[in-house]
Amino acid sequence: MSFQNLLIDYTGRIQHIIINRESKLNALNKATLAELHTALYDAFHNDRVGGIIITGAGEKAFVAGADIAEFAAFDSIRGGELARVGQDKVFNLISNGNKPVIAAINGFALGGGLELALACHIRIAADTAKMGLPEVSLGLIPGYGGTQRLTGLVGKGKALEIILTADMITANEAFQIGLVNHVVSQDNLLPKAEEIMNRILLRAPLAVASAIAAVNASSQAGVNGFETEIAEFAKCFDTDDFKEGVTAFLEKRKPVFKGV
Ligand code: COA
Repeated sequence: MSFQNLLIDYTGRIQHIIINRESKLNALNKATLAELHTALYDAFHNDRVGGIIITGAGEKAFVAGADIAEFAAFDSIRGGELARVGQDKVFNLISNGNKPVIAAINGFALGGGLELALACHIRIAADTAKMGLPEVSLGLIPGYGGTQRLTGLVGKGKALEIILTADMITANEAFQIGLVNHVVSQDNLLPKAEEIMNRILLRAPLAVASAIAAVNASSQAGVNGFETEIAEFAKCFDTDDFKEGVTAFLEKRKPVFKGV
């Protein structure tokens, strides 16, 4: 599969998705979002892929936001459509994915770029990265889930400060408020993301998918997360991987999971 705005690479069972519009600081235009949907859908359905790492091309930007030039002339109808389609096809697709997705934030993650990182399950930042939701400085608010996911991660007070001031924060500030899981040097960014992903890939894939679904349920309106946890927990008992996991433990050996 070849793309105009993405590079796809593999390290073992990890699929790397690199947003590749460096001259526009990897801003998410319509074509890039469509390609991201295709690449993610394919990765979630490809048995050879265990997890996905998303990053930006170059060292300056992860993603500097949605492409401002593209929506400059939009009205409320087209604006609403932009947010709904984007959330549905890319941001919620990642968040609800059945495989782990890690954002390796290599530079500016602004607006839709930070929202992309927020939709991922784990975030690692280079110490040079800067993050923010500058939409109110454009007369907008975040539309790809940022108001909801940032609040869930850092709490209402910090989320409101970041969104209302439109100011950028450093990687270390993001770490202090729980917005990113780790801060490393630019050189160590992908190795660190791969190290974490490889640890996840040792675990039972269906249990990993169930854990993602159960944790996500904690912030879904109208969903009782405790009930979701019971249902996902119960499902695990019918998997071969559960039998393999407990048998390997009792036999004092490492499990070999097959994802069934
Ligand atoms: N949408 C479209 N184009 C963007 C973009 C975006 N979100 N962010 C950067 N670009 C483009 C610039 O227009 C410029 O293109 P050009 O060379 O054809 O003029 C190119 O990327 C480089 O950006 P530039 O602004 O010249 O780099 P800089 O180092 O001076 O500043 C930023 C970097 C990130 C501070 C600045 O680009 C910026 O503020 N971007 C917008 C961030 C934003 O508001 N995002 C939220 C969108 S909802």
